[in-house]
Amino acid sequence: MSENGADREQWGSRFGFIMAAAGSAIGLGNIWRFPYLAGMNGGGAFVVIYLLLVLSIGVAVMLAEMAIGRSAGLNAVGAFKKLKGGAWPLVGWMGVIAGFLILSFYGVVAGWTIAYMIKSFTPGFLEAAAAGKAGDLFGAFVSNPGQVVAYQALFMFATIWIVYRGIGGGIEKYCKLMMPALFIILLILIARAVTLDGAGKGLEFYLKPDFSKVTGGTVLAALGQGFFSLSLGMGCMITYGSYLSKKEVLPSAAITVVSLDTSAAFLSGLAIFPAVFAFGMEPASGPGLTFITLPSVFAKMPMGAVFSFLFFLLLFFAAITSSISLLEVCVAYFKDELGWSRAKASWVLGLVIFVLGVPSALSLGGHFPKIAGKDFLDAVDFFSSNVLLPLGGIFISLFAGWVWLDSARKEVTNQGSHSFALEVAWIWVCRVVAPLAIAWIFVKGLKW
Ligand code: PFF
Repeated sequence: MSENGADREQWGSRFGFIMAAAGSAIGLGNIWRFPYLAGMNGGGAFVVIYLLLVLSIGVAVMLAEMAIGRSAGLNAVGAFKKLKGGAWPLVGWMGVIAGFLILSFYGVVAGWTIAYMIKSFTPGFLEAAAAGKAGDLFGAFVSNPGQVVAYQALFMFATIWIVYRGIGGGIEKYCKLMMPALFIILLILIARAVTLDGAGKGLEFYLKPDFSKVTGGTVLAALGQGFFSLSLGMGCMITYGSYLSKKEVLPSAAITVVSLDTSAAFLSGLAIFPAVFAFGMEPASGPGLTFITLPSVFAKMPMGAVFSFLFFLLLFFAAITSSISLLEVCVAYFKDELGWSRAKASWVLGLVIFVLGVPSALSLGGHFPKIAGKDFLDAVDFFSSNVLLPLGGIFISLFAGWVWLDSARKEVTNQGSHSFALEVAWIWVCRVVAPLAIAWIFVKGLKW
């Protein structure tokens, strides 16, 4: 087992770490799920509630994870073993298992983004979408097992390759390129969307706060979305924090990452809804909005193929910068605890996760049996996102707020050399507010 020694890989710069952590947070969850949830939960009202929750609970748990990771300088399991021991490493274990499971289905959906980049320029595709056939095209695509698995394989190969290149030469290097590119593409798409005739209706749908639509369910949706979106509860930020230099100031890093993630979510709504409304489409939910409604929208725009390609490239960047963080959680564990080389861990675990994802890839076309009425992909998503992540979040906050408190305070203030104005508030959010709020999401969200 390697210790937190001089030989541990490190981020090359603060900017590199922020881009990698924001890359993990900004993913498929931001680009289609947030705008849709906002649209259905009172628009601007949902945005306000989401902001309040992520800026309080989200930042607190993110900071706790970064502090645990940096202090231990180890993977999620090793960190709990080193800092406390007992049953605590089980929390890290849940995280590693969540990493395997989430990446298995994430890689499938991410593979579709590559297919749709190519389809954007395939003759006849956008014409058929314009003629109202986008749903049929999507259905035909996901029920073709060979194609779906091939794209999943391609995406997983790219993920493995980046993780295999290591922290500085792989994850950091590519996030530093892809994350700024992602924001530039987003701004181009927004400029296009808001200048379409009829865009105003979409902006109104998305932004006009309608507090009459706010219920307990709205708050729940906002909190659940916040956790998945910020990559919290599974030791991802513990793992990324373990490669941070002792000199970095953690609270501002956590706030920056949360702000970037929230901006990306908010901006994708600005790119999507004006366009959807301008062409009289329905703001449908889930994969439908991204892979069915949007191609029909692009098909009706001048230079639609270019905008369609840019949108799916944006989605690809968002997905791969998240998938590498999921794989890194698993790789770091096998490296630190079992002494595997980075190369062996990346390729072997990446391959195992790919195989684990094949049932998910086959399930949407009906080529794999359902589990208690759910497609295999949805079942794995449900178990990891609604069970493992909230449980992880509760234990991580309790750990920082009660069990490891003195050291936690030292870590977030760099041994007292940096003042942290919100220290007391942070501690109480970790102690009481976050565990109770997450326990509430957990219990309410357990409906299969
Ligand atoms: N945050 C990613 C998204 O919004 O799509 C998903 C994710 C990545 C969750 C990494 C958890 C994680 F550890």
